[in-house]
Amino acid sequence: MSKITVNGGNKIFGELAVQGAKNSVLPVLAGSILCKGNCVIHNCPRLSDVETSIKILTGLGASCLRDENTVIVDSTQISDYKIPEQLMREMRSSVVFLGAIIGRTGKAVISSPGGCELGPRPIDLHLSSLEKLGVNIREEHGFLYCDTPKGLKGAEIHLSFPSVGATENIILAAATAKGVTVIHNAAKEPEISDLADFLNSAGAKIYGSGSDTIYIHGVNSLGSTEHTIIPDRIVACTYMAAAAITNGEIILKGVMPSHMVAILSVFRESGCKISVSGKSLKLTARDRITRVPTIRSLVYPAFPTDAGPLVIAMLSCAKGTSVFVENIFENRFRYIDELNRLGTKIKTEGKIAIIEGVDKLSGAGCKCTDLRGGAALVLAGLRAKGKTVIGDIHHIERGYEDIVENLKLLNADIEYTED
Ligand code: EPZ
Repeated sequence: MSKITVNGGNKIFGELAVQGAKNSVLPVLAGSILCKGNCVIHNCPRLSDVETSIKILTGLGASCLRDENTVIVDSTQISDYKIPEQLMREMRSSVVFLGAIIGRTGKAVISSPGGCELGPRPIDLHLSSLEKLGVNIREEHGFLYCDTPKGLKGAEIHLSFPSVGATENIILAAATAKGVTVIHNAAKEPEISDLADFLNSAGAKIYGSGSDTIYIHGVNSLGSTEHTIIPDRIVACTYMAAAAITNGEIILKGVMPSHMVAILSVFRESGCKISVSGKSLKLTARDRITRVPTIRSLVYPAFPTDAGPLVIAMLSCAKGTSVFVENIFENRFRYIDELNRLGTKIKTEGKIAIIEGVDKLSGAGCKCTDLRGGAALVLAGLRAKGKTVIGDIHHIERGYEDIVENLKLLNADIEYTED
């Protein structure tokens, strides 16, 4: 079983092009099910979650070709409407395929996605919204049996919480429904707008994405299209934190700074020098960073929950004590016990993490508990004196394309090793 071994102490230095957004490519691949033709999707990161999505698509009857970072999906022939339990287990966010499969075939069978490392991941908002669009949902023996006896019809939906996944599922089911759907209190994340842009390029009529009210005028069907996935703002944050924690300097290419306003604000508050020009961003952290008194994760455009583990790792070596309040997921701090094995001094109390900055970290063996928590261990390893050996790295491979190769190019002493 391979691990990641880091010999810490090198300053991160250099230039990197940031990968396409995992949380955009997944719903876009789901949306390709609605398109009766070829979807050419550029800037698709090579990730295990993307491979799982491609397996789901081919299982439904689509054909998929990958050429480097371009994936071509031909959904002319969709012959199935089921997602195998194994694939649902591999990737719980496969639930975002539900709306698209129902939109294309009028029915769907998936196993209940269950929870994940971050705690319970309910989908009540997804299901209640789909029911408002005319979907009958029967839950039996851990499976969801969905059908639309009277077809999909537009509806007015108010989300009690601006759920990203539920917003995506409603858009995907409503794109070819009869009539107009309005989503109130919709999620405003950039990935929602990227999905809407993709679907509109294939003939959909979706307005207001990025705001809290989205209008979807159902059309008969969608056709072929070509689309480029937006950059991954959380991966960009990860490499920024790598430069900050090692007092280095990094230039990121192909980023969308307008997607990262809350993230940039926290880095600047910690003393990092950041300059932005078009789709490039330069971060310099010559001196030891300083604490950020309080950071709160909230829905977009506030500070994103997924960036929490990355800035917590970075602030573990700051001057002073920082506080992070996690408002989105119940169980987001599981990685912190592993981080403390490297000498960080972080205490958690419910949804609050108190990060007492230390000057030195020391390498240790540790294990990833989830995707972003795993990335936090890599960041701490870059700083820690001596060797850090990180296990269960399949979590990291879900969301980071070539992280070891990229960090090597950025002057890190890092490699894959076997047990
Ligand atoms: C998406 O998850 C992302 N995943 C998450 O990234 C991200 O952390 C999250 O949005 C918040 O930004 C993908 O896009 C694939 P939510 P999602 O629905 O859609 C509650 C990663 O690995 N909720 O906005 O599941 C839920 O319990 C992941 O990249 C309900 O109560 O997020 C949570 O507390 C980690 N009922 C909150 O809403 C529902 O029906 C946020 O969930 C749905 C959600």
